[in-house]
Amino acid sequence: MRKPIIAGNWKMNNTPAQAKELLEGLKPLIAGNEATEAAVCVPAILIGTVKEAMEGSQIHLGAENMHWEEKGAFTGEISPVMLNAFDVEYVIIGHSERRQYFAETDETVNKKVLSALAHGLKPIMCVGETLEQREAGVTDELVCGQVEKGLAGVECIDNVVIAYEPVWAIGTGKTATADEANRVCGIIRDKVGQMLGEEAAAKIRIQYGGSMNPKNVAELMAQPNIDGGLIGGAALKAEDFAALVNNQR
Ligand code: 13P
Repeated sequence: MRKPIIAGNWKMNNTPAQAKELLEGLKPLIAGNEATEAAVCVPAILIGTVKEAMEGSQIHLGAENMHWEEKGAFTGEISPVMLNAFDVEYVIIGHSERRQYFAETDETVNKKVLSALAHGLKPIMCVGETLEQREAGVTDELVCGQVEKGLAGVECIDNVVIAYEPVWAIGTGKTATADEANRVCGIIRDKVGQMLGEEAAAKIRIQYGGSMNPKNVAELMAQPNIDGGLIGGAALKAEDFAALVNNQR
């Protein structure tokens, strides 16, 4: 049985004071919810603050990115060892914004996924097509290619989460229909099965991301291949994020 995981991706939002306020609001709203795993993936500079502010809650801590090397001359980067020092559990890898604005490729995504796993971190690996690619009819092929290249060399899927985020649905208010989101998540699951076997396919948690909100969460989460959500905008409001987490209760 796959435990649903609702993870916030704060992106480049919140000061330490705002982060504390958001978490103080969120904690009582989701307290005692054992049915769903709730995580917040936050900007590196907020990790210390968030770790402290969420103490005593069941919220899991995540980062939004990392470099694959442990240390060295990589100005501005954060290493897996640094994340380990703050007991970070999850790390988003290969978000479409990083692929689009920061030149990340399937190859760098793969290096990061392997490094995260080697350092005991749980990668949330993002895949998804742009509107152009969808209209060109290459969604399935593209997403399968991203999964295949991103997970190359991964032997154990237990700590991996995949987020299917159609780029055209991110921050636009446009959601993939629940049927279509489920269909693509199913294709991703099949791909994992081809690579790592049926047990891995049955185990891997696959999130949907892209304008998930309190209104559409129930329909999306009712789909058999969708095990959670990676949440942007709605993760910035305690009530909205809590409504997504509590959907499974
Ligand atoms: P929105 O929920 O704002 O569409 O963002 C989704 C996302 O990119 C999460 O990683």
